[in-house]
Amino acid sequence: MSRTPVDPTTTPAWQALTAHHEAMTPDLREWFAADPQRAQRFTRTVGDLHVDLSKNLISDETLGLLLELAEQVGLAERIEAMLSGEHINVTEDRAVLHTALRRPAGATPPLVVDGQDVDTDVQGVLDKVYAFAEQVRSGAWTGVTGKPVATVVNIGIGGSDLGPVMAYEALKPFVQEGLEVRFVSNIDPTDIAETVADLDPATTLFIVASKTFTTLETLTNARLARAWLWRRLAEAGAIEDTDEARAEAVAKHFVAVSTALDKVAAFGIDPSNAFGFWDWVGGRYSMDSAIGTSLAIAIGPDAFGQLLAGFHAVDEHLRHVPFARNVPVLMGLLNVWYVNFWGAHTHAVLPYDQHLHRFPAYLQQLTMESNGKSVRWDGSPATTQTGEVFWGEPGTNGQHAFYQLIHQGTRMIPADFIAMAHPAHPLVDVDAPGRPDVHELFLSNFFAQTKALAFGKTADEVRAEGTAAAIVPARVFSGNRPTTSIMAPALTPSVLGQLVALYEHITFVQGIVWGIDSFDQWGVELGKKLALEIAPAVAGDRDALTAQDPSTRGLIDFYLTHRRASPDADD
Ligand code: F6P
Repeated sequence: MSRTPVDPTTTPAWQALTAHHEAMTPDLREWFAADPQRAQRFTRTVGDLHVDLSKNLISDETLGLLLELAEQVGLAERIEAMLSGEHINVTEDRAVLHTALRRPAGATPPLVVDGQDVDTDVQGVLDKVYAFAEQVRSGAWTGVTGKPVATVVNIGIGGSDLGPVMAYEALKPFVQEGLEVRFVSNIDPTDIAETVADLDPATTLFIVASKTFTTLETLTNARLARAWLWRRLAEAGAIEDTDEARAEAVAKHFVAVSTALDKVAAFGIDPSNAFGFWDWVGGRYSMDSAIGTSLAIAIGPDAFGQLLAGFHAVDEHLRHVPFARNVPVLMGLLNVWYVNFWGAHTHAVLPYDQHLHRFPAYLQQLTMESNGKSVRWDGSPATTQTGEVFWGEPGTNGQHAFYQLIHQGTRMIPADFIAMAHPAHPLVDVDAPGRPDVHELFLSNFFAQTKALAFGKTADEVRAEGTAAAIVPARVFSGNRPTTSIMAPALTPSVLGQLVALYEHITFVQGIVWGIDSFDQWGVELGKKLALEIAPAVAGDRDALTAQDPSTRGLIDFYLTHRRASPDADD
């Protein structure tokens, strides 16, 4: 593997793309009119996902040049390097093997990395997670009073929260009746306080999920949860006020997921109630590792297995399908096209599926923690713009909030629209004229939005509606606003796995073009360290306060004045 990233801006393809962009006058109306096959020619399939790229600002030449760029930056070699376990996470000297988490049992040839049989390790943990999930689901796992678990509370943050919560919300119809999973992530005490307030400790199981088991938020919340458990069980007369009784309560009501099993034991959780994973799984790439234990309990091993199979199908696609038909490669290259040649700063992801309401939040960590970098993997400065801002909300809510800017703002915002053919709840509006199927109304909005963004509305069309001349400009839609439409038959566990893997690999492709290490996250460290340094000042230490800069000191002063002035407010 080459240690020096190719500078994409020096490649012939980059020069050609620059000239191509300068010469391009996008006209999707004209392009579609001139080429009746355009939709078909630019539609691709990956697994169950139907991906229509035709409303992007592309021609055959554009795709050809982007594919040349992929070749000239060595994308194929880098994909192979990742999948085979090379240490492509250079700054942490680690392999990047989230794809190994979803290899089917018995896959051949076996994956051996750094002398370790990865397949056997993965299967061993998965079996343990599945056995535990079955115990909880069947009621065989009981709390200290002998009652089965009704509520699982996952305590974790970042990748130890966003993936499981997103998937739990997405797969609600697959959750076993009588089981609920809640998620606590924020160190804002409101989060844990309100999440457990109405829970019965006797039927609550906490999963402390932390790759490092050092994360301030998670360990603080885990301690708060433990204190809550002990207090509430004691109040109910369920445990004695002894160390032994408290230890037994932890053993029955706490399990952990981590790569640091020694730290799990130090917290008081029996290592036999801990599920491991490995440093080659990045936090934001970990929802299909043991970090997904809460999800595996909720939807069960069969559905979790289907989720993994969905991921794997897209991994195979990435590895084997020629780039011209390779969806993650094409979508990653399109993102590069918009960021580097069209100057796009952001990218919207707009799921027309209420169950995917946390998908944009999940993608924010995946994409921005991965590609928000200014240096390349060899430490040299990035040679072009890197990670764009990913954001979004489910449709149609977004339509009534920010779509105005996507339709008529001065900035280009490429957008991915995602929808399922089958609704989770096939409701008919029986009291409305024509008794419309509500999912059809919903999807009509999806189709309408991508159409409006692509084809717009001309001044002539606006005038033809009898609009007063002075108002015409405000009612014109420029069109030529790029979108990708992704559809699948239904939001099954497999389809969810496919969607997530698709975006994982899109992110990877972009990182390779830019020559960055998409798997480290040094940018989150400074703030964490400063928070610990500032904490004494916030707690009232005058010397620590004096050591702060004037702005920070002023803010802490404001806090101290108001918090200390009304101590009763805390009661
Ligand atoms: O602070 C960022 C981060 O390191 C993420 O990359 C990670 O997903 C999150 O914190 C949580 O880390 P952990 O799982 O080790 O608690």
